[in-house]
Amino acid sequence: EGDLVVLGIETSCDDTAVAVVRSDGEILSQVVSSQADLLVKYGGVDPKMAEEAHSQVIDQVVQEALDKAYMTEKDLTAVAVTIGPGLSLCLRVGVQKARRIAGGFNLPIIGIHHMEAHALVARLIEKDLQFPFMALLISGGHNLLILARDLGQYIQLGTTIDDAIGEAYDKLAKWLGLDMSRSGGPAIEELAREGNDKSFNFSIPMKQHKDCNFSYAGLKTQVRRAIESKKIDAKIPISSASYEDRMSRADMAASFQQRIAVLHLEERCERAIQWALKMEPSIKHLVISGGVASNQYVRARLDAVVKKNGLQLVCPPPRLCTDNGVMIAWTGIEHFRVGRYDPPPPAEDPEDFF
Ligand code: KG4
Ligand code: ZN
Repeated sequence: EGDLVVLGIETSCDDTAVAVVRSDGEILSQVVSSQADLLVKYGGVDPKMAEEAHSQVIDQVVQEALDKAYMTEKDLTAVAVTIGPGLSLCLRVGVQKARRIAGGFNLPIIGIHHMEAHALVARLIEKDLQFPFMALLISGGHNLLILARDLGQYIQLGTTIDDAIGEAYDKLAKWLGLDMSRSGGPAIEELAREGNDKSFNFSIPMKQHKDCNFSYAGLKTQVRRAIESKKIDAKIPISSASYEDRMSRADMAASFQQRIAVLHLEERCERAIQWALKMEPSIKHLVISGGVASNQYVRARLDAVVKKNGLQLVCPPPRLCTDNGVMIAWTGIEHFRVGRYDPPPPAEDPEDFF
């Protein structure tokens, strides 16, 4: 196989992310334009506004990714683009751009499933990562435990029955009056270091359900009650809270992180590993990916559980855990190698696709 060079475009949520990746695993460029300022201003992702933001920057972000890789469209083997799951208005911006490039330069196009990409990017990082392997994908939108038997063959072992773990982090950060100029997860992780994780005896979600599913909605009742009893007022930002107030917020962050977030993940992962090994005794690795997988405490605790159960943890670096273009380009390479791609679209009028 000669070297393949694939452009990856990701616009499923609020980041416009583009990368150029080569099939030997070299990341030639990676550019992300984030809408964090919009998020703070409007307190969440508004699809219409996110679509506009993607449309405004997409051409420029693609150009920058090509420039940084010292390439033009003519040097590419194919274009890969996220086709779902995600906000359809936003996905469309990426798909139209990909079709315009592919049509204009006669390149094959590869439609990518966002979650498959979160899992497979681990194979770019860890060359020993062979199928079958397990993956825990934890982000603001997803909570998925899968068994990856082969390329394109995934068995879902567990998913969330309500919210995703990242949403729980974000919600708690808001309730504790933390600085939301970044997302809530890193703010909780940082504050939790100051707190005592035994202060609140939050119950672990779904303990009585002996499966591999997740739930984070019970947070509302458990944590809200504790916040009220400690009289924590989210309108008082943590930076102006008294010492005592700050400490009770830190204790809550630590107790939440330990019991509701991590013990829950550990319990589910342990069960999933046991299930999966029965189906596929040759599994050697469990991958964690998605924004929450960039949390150091989550990584360390899962590493221990995975090791204890005889597997090895693979965790991409934080930049490849959160949404990025590299994972899309890389998954495109994996598909291209086995002939899974579409022929170039007609050069004219790609706008009619949807
Ligand atoms: O993968 P991602 O960038 O986007 C989605 O596909 O959702 O994940 C974003 C989520 C947010 O909810 C954010 O709070 C969470 O990942 N997150 C973290 C950390 N960094 C990001 N959660 C806990 N600890 C972190 N260090
Ligand atoms: Zn994602």
